[in-house]
Amino acid sequence: MKDYYSKFAHDYDEFGPIESYLGEEEVFFKELFDEHSVKTVLDCACGTGQHLFMFSRIGFQATGSDFSESMLEVAASHLAKHQLELPLRHADFRFLEQAHSETFDAIVCLSTSLPHLHSDEDLLTALTSMKNRLNPGGLLVLTQGTTPYTLSLPAIEVVVNREDFSRIFVKEHDDQFQTIHVLDLFHSPQRSENNQYDIVYRILLDEDYRRLLQQAGFEEVQIFGDYQRTPYEETSGRMIVVAR
Ligand SMILES: C[S@@+](CC[C@H](N)C(=O)[O-])C[C@H]1O[C@@H](n2cnc3c(N)ncnc32)[C@H](O)[C@@H]1O
Repeated sequence: MKDYYSKFAHDYDEFGPIESYLGEEEVFFKELFDEHSVKTVLDCACGTGQHLFMFSRIGFQATGSDFSESMLEVAASHLAKHQLELPLRHADFRFLEQAHSETFDAIVCLSTSLPHLHSDEDLLTALTSMKNRLNPGGLLVLTQGTTPYTLSLPAIEVVVNREDFSRIFVKEHDDQFQTIHVLDLFHSPQRSENNQYDIVYRILLDEDYRRLLQQAGFEEVQIFGDYQRTPYEETSGRMIVVAR
C-alpha cells in the first residue's frame, strides 16, 4: 500500500495549531467515554497525533498507530514537545493485531481515515481487526467529513488563508469515490513553494457503515451528524459513527 502522507505529513498541521481546534470533539469524547467507563483508547489512524494529545489531556490512556511512518514521526515530535510519553506503533488498521497485542476499551479512526480503503473486502477486514482489538462491550468511533451535503458544496474550498500560507481543496467525485486535491501554497519571503497531494476516499454513507459494521460483528450502531449528537441526516455536515 502506498503512503500518500510521506511528504504531506511535514506540513499537515498547517490546518491549525494542534492544541486549539478540537474543542467540540473533546467534550463529545469525554462524555461518551465516561458514559461507557472507557479508560484505554487506541487511535488507529493517529496521523500527527492531535487526538492522542486531546485524549491524554482529558484523562484517557491513549495509544496511537498509523500506516504512515512520516505521520508517526511528526506525531512523536509533537508528543515529545509536550513531554507526553505514550505508545506509537506502525500499523495498517486492517491488521492491528500485528502491532497491538493488547485490547482496548475504545478504538477510534477519525477525520475520514477509514475511507482510504476502497473495497468492501478491505473495509470489512479493517472493521473486523478493530473489533478483535476491543475489550468486550468496547466502543468503536469513526468520523468523516463526507456526507451528501458536503459532496454538494462547491468544488473549491479555501481551507487555510494566512498571509504566508494558503491551503486550497479542489474536490471532485463520482458515485463511489471522492478525490481531494490538496494545494499548499507557501508565499512568504522565507518559503515560496507549491505542493499538491491527491487523496482518494471511498464514499461511505450511513447504510454502508450499518451493513459493514453488522457484518464485522458490531451491535448498537448509532450515527450522529455533529458532536452534540444530533441524529445524522443527509443535510448533516459530518458523520460520526459509534458502535459497540
Ligand atoms: C486524513 S488523515 C487523518 C489523521 C488524523 N486521524 C487526524 O484526525 O488528523 C488520514 C490518516 O489515515 C492514515 N491511514 C490511511 N490508511 C491507513 C491504514 N490502512 N492503516 C492505518 N492508517 C491509515 C494515514 O496515514 C493518515 O495519517
